[in-house]
Amino acid sequence: MTVTLSPTTAQQQPDISYQPDETKWRARTARRLAEDPTLPNQPLPEGFPAKIKGPIAWEGKDFTTEEQWVVKLTEAQLQEIDNALKHFKGLNRPLGHISRETFPLPTLAPVLLGLAAELYSGRGFFVLRTIPVDNYTREEIAIIYAGISSFVGSARGKQDVTGAVIAHIKDITVSHAHEKGHRANTAYTTDKQVFHTDVGDLIALICLSTSESGGTSRLCSGPRVYNEIAATRPDLIRVLAEPWPLDSFGGTPGYTFKPLLYWEDEHIIIQYTRRLLTGYGEQARSPHIPAITEAQAEALDTLQFTAEKFSLALNFQKGDIQYINSIGLLHARDAFRDSPEKTRHLIRLWLRNDELAWKTPAPLQPNWRRLYSVGPDHQRFPLEPEVRKKDNNPIPPPPAPTAFNQ
Ligand SMILES: [Fe+2]
Repeated sequence: MTVTLSPTTAQQQPDISYQPDETKWRARTARRLAEDPTLPNQPLPEGFPAKIKGPIAWEGKDFTTEEQWVVKLTEAQLQEIDNALKHFKGLNRPLGHISRETFPLPTLAPVLLGLAAELYSGRGFFVLRTIPVDNYTREEIAIIYAGISSFVGSARGKQDVTGAVIAHIKDITVSHAHEKGHRANTAYTTDKQVFHTDVGDLIALICLSTSESGGTSRLCSGPRVYNEIAATRPDLIRVLAEPWPLDSFGGTPGYTFKPLLYWEDEHIIIQYTRRLLTGYGEQARSPHIPAITEAQAEALDTLQFTAEKFSLALNFQKGDIQYINSIGLLHARDAFRDSPEKTRHLIRLWLRNDELAWKTPAPLQPNWRRLYSVGPDHQRFPLEPEVRKKDNNPIPPPPAPTAFNQ
C-alpha cells in the first residue's frame, strides 16, 4: 500500500536541496536560535554519551601521511593473489562461490583479517595498494577483488533486485542516456556527491581508472561529527535520533520513518542519504509525503558542514581498493571531469564481517536482511556498467539464527 498525504495536510518542504548551501544553513540556524535561544541548552537524548572516545573518533588533521592508512601489497602477496586466481578458475565454479575457501591466501589472509578488525575497532578505513589491474581481464579482476574482500567481510550484499553483488560507479549519463534511473543518484554522474552512508556494514571500492581531474574521495568519522554537534547543539542530536520521513521514490510504501543516528551497543551509527530527504536530479521529493521540518533541515546541513570540517581527503590510484566502515564513517566525493583517455571507474562491493560486526539497530535490520539475503548461486557479477534495478520486493522475514540480532 502506498502511503500518501492529501495536499491539504502536507507541510511545506523547507528551502533545502541536494547540493548544500552554506548561506542558507547559517541563515536557518540564526533564525531558529532567534526564535528559541534555549535550543542549545536542551539535553542529549536519554542514554546518549556526551563524547565518544577511541580511534574511530578521528579528524582529518590527525593524519599527516597516507602511509598511515595505505597498505602496500608486496610482490610475494601479489603472487599469492595470482595463484589464488588460478586456483579458483581451476574449480570451474560460478563467481558467487568465491570465498575464503575457494580463494586461498595462506600468508595474506591473517593480514586481511587484521585489517578487517581495523574497520570495526580502529579508525574504520584502509586502502590496499595496488592490484595490477591492467594485467587481468575484467572477470579476473572481479574474482581477485571478491576473493581478497571475502577475508575482510565474507558476506556480500546485493546491489539491486537482480542479485548483482558488484556495482560500477561511473558516469553513465551519456553511455546509458536512453535508460531511466541513474540520473537520480550522483554515484552514476560526475556531480559532487555529498556526505552520506551506504546501506550495509562495509563498502569496498576498487579503482579501475581515474578521472582527468577532480573526484577526490572524502571520509569523515561519524563519532567526531557526533562529538561536535553534541557539544554545541545537543538539540540537533535529538532531532537526528528521531524518525525522519525517507522518500522511497515510488516504492511501496511511499515513504518510511527512520532515525538518521543511533546509539546502539556503545556505537554511534549514522545511516542516511541526503537525496532521500531532498530529492536529486530527475527524482524530486514527492509532494505527497510528509515534508521534513525546519529543525531537520538544519540538522541535515549541520551534518554535512560538520563532516566537511573534520574530513580527510583520499586520492584513488588505479588498482587501489578502499575499504570503509559505512556505519561508522560518512563518505563523499568531489565533482570530476572525465576525458576520452581518463575515465573514472570504480567497482563497489557491500560486505559484512559477521564475526566482528556491530549490532544492527532494529529499524535497520529489515534492510540489512534484504541486502545480505543473496546466496552464492544467485549472485551476479555484471562486468560492465548497468543501471541498477530497484528492489521493491517484500523484505525477507528474520532468519532463525541470530546473525543480525547479536
Ligand atoms: Fe556511497
